[in-house]
This record gives sequence, structure tokens and C-alpha cells, in this order.
Amino acid sequence: MSLLRVEKLNLWYHDKHVLKDVSFFANRGEVLCIVGESGSGKSSIFHAVMRLLPPYAKLKGSITFKGKELLSLSEEEMRNIRGKEIGIVFQEPSLYLDPLFTVGSQVEETYREHFGKKGAKERALSALKKAGIPNAEEKYRMYPHQLSGGLKQRVCIAIAIVCEPPLVLADEPTTALDVSVQRKVLSLFRRMRDEGKGVIIITHDFGVVAETADRVIVLKDGTIVEEGSVWDIFENPKHEYTRKLLRAL
Ligand SMILES: Nc1ncnc2c1ncn2[C@@H]1O[C@H](COP(=O)(O)OP(=O)(O)O)[C@@H](O)[C@H]1O
Ligand SMILES: [Mg+2]
Repeated sequence: MSLLRVEKLNLWYHDKHVLKDVSFFANRGEVLCIVGESGSGKSSIFHAVMRLLPPYAKLKGSITFKGKELLSLSEEEMRNIRGKEIGIVFQEPSLYLDPLFTVGSQVEETYREHFGKKGAKERALSALKKAGIPNAEEKYRMYPHQLSGGLKQRVCIAIAIVCEPPLVLADEPTTALDVSVQRKVLSLFRRMRDEGKGVIIITHDFGVVAETADRVIVLKDGTIVEEGSVWDIFENPKHEYTRKLLRAL
């Protein structure tokens, strides 16, 4: 059974049709990359999976996680999934950090919400280290405004992995990072894959695809136009749009 299976997903914002019959799956022990131009609907897929859509959004289709239909869960059941079962790194992660709390306490809070106080601080610290934050003990006590954009992004990665969820969604997770930190973060995702977790990365950077992906889906105007192994995509892209994206590399 696939860890996540999305079937014939259709999404409208008001009457704008943004996702059109999107179907794909994600397995344990695999990195799936979703690529496509800006505006093609990539982030909307993640928001639909997490059921974090604005009230004027209309969704049709099916999203099953571990065989459970997410679209029919109650809001409370969904809260037990977010963070604990599915971790997410949002596209503009710094917006999700609360300026009033230290970054360490925000990572810790995500763990406590699901597993309680015991061991929470150690887990938070270890997540910050795994996310590639140097001097994690010191950074733990800092407030978001005291950190660079790249560090804030890594704090959000720590929040996404602190509960060790079986599925992690990462929306352009390396855009604010310089090359050496980007390497570290990508190797973290590969390690999670090797530990048997499922990882889905949204990116428009084929360098990221080359370094991480096992499989790739290509999204254009809300439709999946191509799907294949990372080899297929680089060696034998079928769709002109994929070739165009590759040329832009
Ligand atoms: N919350 C929203 N309300 C209305 N329109 C949105 C919202 N989020 C995204 N859109 C629109 O939906 C389309 C897909 O956006 P998005 O999923 O963010 O694409 P991508 O992540 O590929 O850039 C775009 O046309 C965008 O303007
Ligand atoms: Mg996006």
C-alpha cells in the first residue's frame, strides 16, 4: 500500500480551477519530487493534503494516507495527523514562526502537542541539529528575528521532522539556503528516505531533483503532464514542457 495516494484531485479557488484530476502516489523509502513553473499548483497540492485551504476553496477527489481517507476526517483527527504523521515545510517558512517565542520552544511545542513534555527538549535540540543548525543549544534560545532567513528555514525543517513523521512534505525547502547548507538539508532528506520514510519535495530546481529524487512528477497548469523515474525525466523527457524546464537549468 502506498503511504500517500492522491486520486483525481480537483481544486478550485472560487471558480478558478487550479488542480485538474491530479493523481499520484508516494511510497515509504522514496523521494518524490514535484516540479513545475510558478503558479502550476504545486503548493496547492500540499495545502490540500494537509487540509489547510482557505474557506473559498473547493476540493474533490481522494487523498488517502496509510489507507485512511483524509478528506473525510474531522478537524480534530486532522490535527493528530499534522506534524505527527505528516510533517510539512511551507514555502515561506518564516511566516509560520511566532515572533514572541524562542525558536527552540516552537520546535519543542510541536513535539509536546503529540507526545507530551517528557524528552521534548532533547528531541527539539536533536531536530535542530539534524536540520543543520550550528550551535543548536545557543540558537534554541533565540527569537526568530535574531536569525537569518536560512536559519529560520532550517528551524521550520526541524519543526517538520521533530516528531519523526513517516511522511515529510517540503515546499521549495532550499531556496533561502546557500549551497553548502543546501547540501546538508538535501542529505537530511535522503537520510530520511533511507530510514524508510516518505519524502515529497516541491522544487523548480533540477539540481535538487538530481540530488534527491527517486521519482518525479511534472505539473503544468494544474495537470500532471509527465511522471517517471529520475532517469526517465533526465534521459528521456517525453513532454515538451519538461524539456523546456530542463533547458532552463
Ligand atoms: N489561497 C489562494 N487563494 C486564491 N488563489 C490562490 C491561492 N493560492 C494559490 N492560488 C492560485 O492558484 C494557482 C496555483 O498556485 P500555487 O499552488 O501556489 O502554485 P505553485 O506552488 O506551483 O507556484 C496560482 O494561480 C495562484 O495564484
Ligand atoms: Mg508554491
